[in-house]
Amino acid sequence: MSDNPILADNKPIKVILQQGQQYCFCCCGRSLAQPFCDGSHTSTRLSPKVFTANKTGPVMLCRCKQSKNLPYCDGSHSQYSPADIG
Ligand code: FES
Repeated sequence: MSDNPILADNKPIKVILQQGQQYCFCCCGRSLAQPFCDGSHTSTRLSPKVFTANKTGPVMLCRCKQSKNLPYCDGSHSQYSPADIG
């Protein structure tokens, strides 16, 4: 059973969030519903991150799962290439 996230992609994804709505962000990288959880983490020791949007509008959410500011992209993905995905 893995403790490590995998890269769902080596770039973030733009999503429109609604202020006050709760979201379940995938931290394991295995969800097929990126950037959100689909339950795939049950094969790992990782858990999704539940967060509430503090404003309505577009945000860049992390898909490399290496950001220090999850669920948001912090640029950490720049160290990865397409070969690192998965
Ligand atoms: S996609 Fe993970 S830091 Fe940008």
